[in-house]
Amino acid sequence: MKRDGDNIVTIDGPSGVGKSTIARQVAELLGFWCLDTGAMYRAVALKADEAAADLGDSVALSMLLSETTVEFDPAGSVLLDRRDVSKLIRTERISSLSSRLAELGEVREFLVGIQRKIGESGNIVAEGRDMGTYVFPGAKYKFYLDATVAERTKRRFHQSGRGDSEASLLDVEAELRERDRRDTLRAENPLRPAPDAVIMDTTRMSAEQVISSIVLRVKDISLLHD
Ligand code: DC
Repeated sequence: MKRDGDNIVTIDGPSGVGKSTIARQVAELLGFWCLDTGAMYRAVALKADEAAADLGDSVALSMLLSETTVEFDPAGSVLLDRRDVSKLIRTERISSLSSRLAELGEVREFLVGIQRKIGESGNIVAEGRDMGTYVFPGAKYKFYLDATVAERTKRRFHQSGRGDSEASLLDVEAELRERDRRDTLRAENPLRPAPDAVIMDTTRMSAEQVISSIVLRVKDISLLHD
């Protein structure tokens, strides 16, 4: 018998672990849709930034959210108020602001509502921080990716193309540590593995190894239950 969550794969984990790349390719191999929830927090951060919103004013913030739409187009681009903002949300400024906004209950409630609505049709790989614990607790396939801070710093550094200086490597590490602190200590849906998630230490694994390990497990579990 089919139940809610049968066709939902969740991939959670800290910044810099490589979730987006992995989730995208896992989705492609399974023929599923990839839901990048970090992009949604980033889109709201862009809106708040453009409106010069005061993050301490929860009434004004709620008002701003009530006039905001966050969607994805069929190609997976994130649309803020119908505008494609996929590139604009990838700056350091927006990364840092999204991490602060993600601590606010109003913002999480607003985005979780949209995420669950998207999840209703199933066949998705949802990636973020609270997919397995809070947004889709009934998902049948849950993964939690981890790696050491040193390894995540290296991955983020190569991805950002910030040149080769020791100083910028240290900057990336400091930003990651700050992001980890906010993600794990926030009161609302902090980052942690769901009790029924498969925890993978990817420190010594290539992206390809992580992807094939996830896809194989999903196929094994689905054969087991069919
Ligand atoms: O994965 P990312 O770096 O694009 O996410 C941007 C920010 O959003 C990050 O600081 C953590 C936050 N986030 C969250 O709190 N919950 C999610 N499900 C996804 C992202």
